[in-house]
Amino acid sequence: MKVTVVGAGNVGATCADVLAYREIANEVILVDIKEGVAEGKALDIWQKAPINMYDTRAKGVTNDYSQTEGSDVVVITSGLPRKPGMTRDDLIETNAGIVKTVTEQVIKYSPDAIIVIVSNPLDVMTYQAHLSANKSRNKVMGMAGILDTARYRAFLAEELNVSPKDIQAVLMGGHGDTMVPLPRYTTVGGIPVTELIEKDKLDAIIERTKFGGGELVKLMGTSAWYAPGSAAAQMVEAIVRDQRRVFPVCIKLEGEYGIDDCYLGVPVVLGKNGVEKVIELDLNEEEKALLESSRQHVKEVMAVLDRLS
Ligand code: NAI
Ligand code: 2OP
Repeated sequence: MKVTVVGAGNVGATCADVLAYREIANEVILVDIKEGVAEGKALDIWQKAPINMYDTRAKGVTNDYSQTEGSDVVVITSGLPRKPGMTRDDLIETNAGIVKTVTEQVIKYSPDAIIVIVSNPLDVMTYQAHLSANKSRNKVMGMAGILDTARYRAFLAEELNVSPKDIQAVLMGGHGDTMVPLPRYTTVGGIPVTELIEKDKLDAIIERTKFGGGELVKLMGTSAWYAPGSAAAQMVEAIVRDQRRVFPVCIKLEGEYGIDDCYLGVPVVLGKNGVEKVIELDLNEEEKALLESSRQHVKEVMAVLDRLS
């Protein structure tokens, strides 16, 4: 399997590293626009192979998409990250141009590739990539739900003093402050979380999760990369190994949840064809209202993209 990661910055390099050391792909091509950066990081990953015992070949290139030819999956992380005080939506103008150009190049050399978008604002960059790739919706998706859910699971594991492995959860909606955590669908070793934690503590964890990206931006002056890079690699793994994992993934909704023509995170089955199935939960009125507010927000940002193009 051949996987390309575009953008050799914090998230892209982390994703490429996970793909290599976990041998998720045989070949990983890292692409960046900055001369030498992708080459250097890929060489570093390859030189780690004898230490960490893997044989995935990592190769870096500067803007040479011919080297990405025949990729099975392409992860797009190129674009600006946010700085303190910025929202993800502030990145739209610059990142839309980058995602458009990159997607066109990727498709030229790998017309059958499944595309996983990471660049922000995530839901609208998935829309941009879908427009530029002109492929069926199941092959163009965005990574955010696995990350947001991981933050929620990590906070819960800390509060309950249990292994994060035993926390199962799903979050829906856009990648932003309007994301929709679903405590009704959160379990700890099969036990509903609501039986193990007081409501005020759970509410505080939900609030912290919604602003989890911003918490890291404040601490580091740029956005996170270890969890985002690993989350993108986990999606690639589900696809290339046809694992049929159930993850929250951003995809164009076509009537599911009563929503049409909007890119939002929903639980899906991820396998060799990309999104194999969208899972429709029976949301209650409160959850439906939260999802509707998330939909409205994403639609507003999609309209900004429409005006730009
Ligand atoms: P970064 O600045 O470390 O890396 C971005 C890389 O993209 C840079 O190396 C840059 O040279 C490259 N780049 C820019 N234009 C390019 C082009 N036309 N072609 C190829 N490469 C190009 O940023 P970082 O932290 O890796 O974040 C990348 C993006 O991912 C940002 O938009 C950030 O907001 C987003 N992000 C999304 C997350 C999510 O959950 N969906 C989580 C974390 C970050
Ligand atoms: C995050 O949630 C900024 O989207 C990025 O860390």
